[in-house]
Amino acid sequence: KRLVVLVSGSGTNLQALLDAVAEAGPEGYGARIVAVGADRDGIEGLARAERAGLPTFVRRVKDYGTRDEWDAALAEAVAAHEPDLVVSAGFMKIVGKRFLARYGGRFVNTHPALLPSFPGAHGVRDALAYGAKVTGCTVHFVDDGVDTGPIIAQGVVEVRDEDDESALHERIKEVERELLVDVVGRLARNGYRIEGRKVVIQ
Ligand code: GRF
Repeated sequence: KRLVVLVSGSGTNLQALLDAVAEAGPEGYGARIVAVGADRDGIEGLARAERAGLPTFVRRVKDYGTRDEWDAALAEAVAAHEPDLVVSAGFMKIVGKRFLARYGGRFVNTHPALLPSFPGAHGVRDALAYGAKVTGCTVHFVDDGVDTGPIIAQGVVEVRDEDDESALHERIKEVERELLVDVVGRLARNGYRIEGRKVVIQ
């Protein structure tokens, strides 16, 4: 299977996927990354892709007249690589109906909280501020909402009294990277069905 990964930051989830494919081989893992896309330049995630010798593309919202034009341009850039599955690994933009028309049901996101708790761009900070005793990460299919699509897998992380946002986020990311690598590999190797809010991996 062909994967396109979308990033907006340090790309450690991307790196975990790259390492998993390198270790198991594309056949063993069930997929290989064919391109990496971003919504901004100059991020470590793109540098990781370039070091791995992968094609990259950037589509910045501000380069387009409307959000819808950006959405269409992003979909086109992804489609050029003919992915079977698209993975948002810290991609910090909400895609629109054009992108979902093409990749809905084949677009997976990882979120650093236990959805439906603490959706949105500050899930770690929100869980901490709320005083949650456990939080974690969620890998889910992307639908037309914000972090609302069918949940595939979740991992639990305890919140410690001394945690600040970055310490907690780093601990979440340790679990998240493993969860994402496991889920993407199983989706690619086994195939899956989405039945309402239920995801069945064969
Ligand atoms: C991940 O925790 C992701 O869930 C969140 O931002 C982080 C991205 O980390 N949206 P990285 O860029 O993969 O290191």
